[in-house]
Amino acid sequence: MISYKDLGLVNTREMFKKAIEGGYAIPAFNFNNMEQMQAIISACVECSSPVILQVSSGARNYANQTLLRYMAQGAVEFAKEMGKNIPIVLHLDHGNSFELCKSCIDMGFSSVMIDGSHLPYEENVALTKKVVDYAHQFDVTVEGELGVLAGVEDEVSSEVAHYTRPEEVVDFVTKTGCDSLAISIGTSHGANKFKPEQCTRNADGILVPPPLRFDILEEIEKQLPGFPIVLHGSSSVPQEYVKIINTHGGALKDAVGIPEEELRKAAKSAVCKINIDSDGRLAMTAMVRKIFVDNPAEFDPRKYLGPARDELKKLYKHKCENVLGSAGTVE
Ligand code: G3H
Ligand code: 13P
Ligand code: ZN
Repeated sequence: MISYKDLGLVNTREMFKKAIEGGYAIPAFNFNNMEQMQAIISACVECSSPVILQVSSGARNYANQTLLRYMAQGAVEFAKEMGKNIPIVLHLDHGNSFELCKSCIDMGFSSVMIDGSHLPYEENVALTKKVVDYAHQFDVTVEGELGVLAGVEDEVSSEVAHYTRPEEVVDFVTKTGCDSLAISIGTSHGANKFKPEQCTRNADGILVPPPLRFDILEEIEKQLPGFPIVLHGSSSVPQEYVKIINTHGGALKDAVGIPEEELRKAAKSAVCKINIDSDGRLAMTAMVRKIFVDNPAEFDPRKYLGPARDELKKLYKHKCENVLGSAGTVE
C-alpha cells in the first residue's frame, strides 16, 4: 500500500472548496506520456494553478500503471524544481470497477472516479458507495457520475445520452457519500461532440453547437448548495488546430466542441473540475502533422514532440488563464 501523501500529492477536498468559493474550476488534464505531463506541469506552475493529472484505464494500459505513478511523483518534484509547489492530484478517470479503483488507491492515487452512470440507478449507488467506503479509509476522494454523456466514456460507452435528473442528486450524494458529482448537461467526449444536424452554422460555415443546459445545472446547485460539480467532455475543439490537421494530410470532419464562454460561465458556478483531453490531442497532432509535412527529412522525435509539447503548454496556460480562471490562485 502506497499513500499518495508520501508522494507529495493531495486529494481534491481543499482544492474544490477553494475553487467553489473563488468562482473558478480546477483543470483536469489527461496524460499518457512524458511530454503531456511536462506540458501540464510547466503550464500550471507558470500560471500558478492547481492541477488534476488524470489517468484513464486506457492510459494505464498504454503507459504502464507503475510508470504513470512514478511520473506523477516526478511531477511533484518537477514543479518544486521550477520553483512552485502547486497542489497536484493524481486522479483515475472513468474507473469502471471497484477492483480498478482499489488498485489505483493502493498504488498512490489521491482521487478516483467511479463511473456507474451507465448502470441502473440503485446499482450505480451501490458501486459508488463501495468505492467511497474503501477510498475514505485512506483519505482518497471519490467522484461519482449521474446522467449519461453522449459518445464513448473510455471503456464505458452508451448509445443513449440523458441529462442528469436534478431530483436524484441529493439521494445519490447522501447514499454514496461521494465527494464530487459529474453531471450531464450537454457536454460530450471526443472531437465530434455533436452531429451537424444538432448544430447551426455561422457566417463562415463553422458549426455552432446547441447551448449547454444551464437550467439543469442551476437546479442541481439548488438541490446541493456548495457541492462540487464536475464537467466531463469539455474540450472546445479549437478550429485552428482542426484546420492545421486537415491542411496537413488529416481528415477530421465536422469536429466541434463546447464554446469557451460556456465553460467560463460554468467555472463560476459550483462546477469546480473541468475535464479536457481532446483539445490536447488536437494540439499535439496539429504540430506533429505540420512538422512532418513542412520538414519531411526530420526523424528526431525531439524535433516534433518538442514543438508539440510547447503548443500543448500554451493551450493549457490559455485554459487556466482565460477559460477556467484557475491561474494565479496558488500563492
Ligand atoms: O473520457 C475519456 C478520456 O478522454 C480518456 O480517453 O480512454 O482514450 O484514454 P482514453
Ligand atoms: P474531452 O474529450 O472533451 O476532452 O473530455 C475529456 C474527459 O471528459 C475526460 O474524462
Ligand atoms: Zn470523461
